[in-house]
Amino acid sequence: MFTKLSFKIGFLFFIFIFIIESILFFVLYTNLANERIEEVMDNLLARGNTHSEVLETNFDESTIEHVGIMESASDFVVVITDEAGNVIIHSDPIEPEMMEVIKHTDYDEISTKGKVVEDRWDDKQYIAADSPVNVDGEHKGHVFMFADTNNVKNVVNELSNQFIFVALMTVGLTIITVFILSRLITHPLIKMKKATEQLSKGKNKVELHTDRKDELGELANSITKLANELDQLKTERNEFLASISHELRTPLTYIKGYADIINRQDITDAEVKEYITIIREESEHLSILIKNLFELAKMDENKFSVQREEVSLCTVIQTVADRVNPAFSDKDITLFVSCPKEIIAFVDPERFQQLLINILDNAKKHSFEGGRVWLKVSQMEQEISITISDEGDGIPKDDLPYIFERLYRVEKSRSRQSGGTGLGLAIAKEIIESHGGHIEAKSEQGEGTSVIIRLTRGGNNE
Ligand SMILES: Nc1ncnc2c1ncn2[C@@H]1O[C@H](COP(=O)(O)OP(=O)(O)OP(=O)(O)O)[C@@H](O)[C@H]1O
Ligand SMILES: [Mg+2]
Repeated sequence: MFTKLSFKIGFLFFIFIFIIESILFFVLYTNLANERIEEVMDNLLARGNTHSEVLETNFDESTIEHVGIMESASDFVVVITDEAGNVIIHSDPIEPEMMEVIKHTDYDEISTKGKVVEDRWDDKQYIAADSPVNVDGEHKGHVFMFADTNNVKNVVNELSNQFIFVALMTVGLTIITVFILSRLITHPLIKMKKATEQLSKGKNKVELHTDRKDELGELANSITKLANELDQLKTERNEFLASISHELRTPLTYIKGYADIINRQDITDAEVKEYITIIREESEHLSILIKNLFELAKMDENKFSVQREEVSLCTVIQTVADRVNPAFSDKDITLFVSCPKEIIAFVDPERFQQLLINILDNAKKHSFEGGRVWLKVSQMEQEISITISDEGDGIPKDDLPYIFERLYRVEKSRSRQSGGTGLGLAIAKEIIESHGGHIEAKSEQGEGTSVIIRLTRGGNNE
């Protein structure tokens, strides 16, 4: 529990707020209490001063008595002394504490104004003020005023009670606020933690619906996105594995089937020869398929590195043309190449040749005998485009969007004559994309196909 984020945040918050509140309360409390006490003292002194002023005009027995009677009805005690400190009159009984104040007064030093002579309200029974009486510069006596400190204590106690009440309220509210706040932060985090745990356990879907627009909301959305991508990746991988196993099984079935037939006694030599040819073709197909799959796997792992260099594009294209020409001639297909000599491309020549061969191989495969294939290079301000067009059978509209996918073939039934691996264009796409380029195909059934490769221009600075 103590290691939990909610506790840590909450605790820290609480400590800070508590310290701030304590300082605030302390300052406020001391100020208020002091003000109250001072008020009481000032009152007492003012009362004493009023009496001394009256006595200064009439310092006679009846006035003195009058003052005594007045204070006997009040909460205060008045004691009037002569100039030497002998008590003349007192309104209430004199307590020992009062006597001490009267005795300890310095009667030689007479100020015209009165002053508070006992202000220790917290450990004395009375606070006291002394107002000397001077008639025409002659020192006549003193008016001592006493007030019970219980009054002051009550005022301060009441103030303390109010403060304790408010402090408890604030602490309570702070705890509630902190609790809600930390839940607001940690609750979604806990949900996300659970979701990622589910993901690592193999669950594909996570539900982290959130309308929050803050960082936590963004995090939740990122996790959801990640989970969806992971899910898609898994599906794709499974589909791919299924296709691979199918692709591998087909030639193996042929090989096993024909090997079984050859083993039989009742077949002619000519048949044996024919079947062996088939077995050889199928093995070849299998090894090409495996080679291509391996190629793609390397690309996926980013192990295959493109070593780009500045090359004359036409030289690369001419090498490719020279390589494919014999096969084209076999089918009586003419290959027209047009390439402006000065074009320099920043590519990996080896990979680029492979890419062109894959596309030209398709054009050849799908062209009719005596057909024509064009390879045209053009250079624009930003990019170089290479278009390979044929007059072959074309690609059905429904298949066109998928031809760059792995193992996708338009002709689903894999005939031994036409049967490619369905990886040629997938590899081509990987290659061009690793060059930062783009590939697309346009096709009209019965009219022909064009494959367009676009490559951004630029050299080493890329
Ligand atoms: N020029 C084209 N004309 C008609 N169809 C084409 C053309 N190029 C590609 N296709 C279709 O697209 C599919 C995918 O092509 P891709 O090159 O990836 O596979 P493949 O040629 O069947 O096998 P591989 O190239 O591995 O031997 C092919 O099966 C083919 O039907
Ligand atoms: Mg192909």
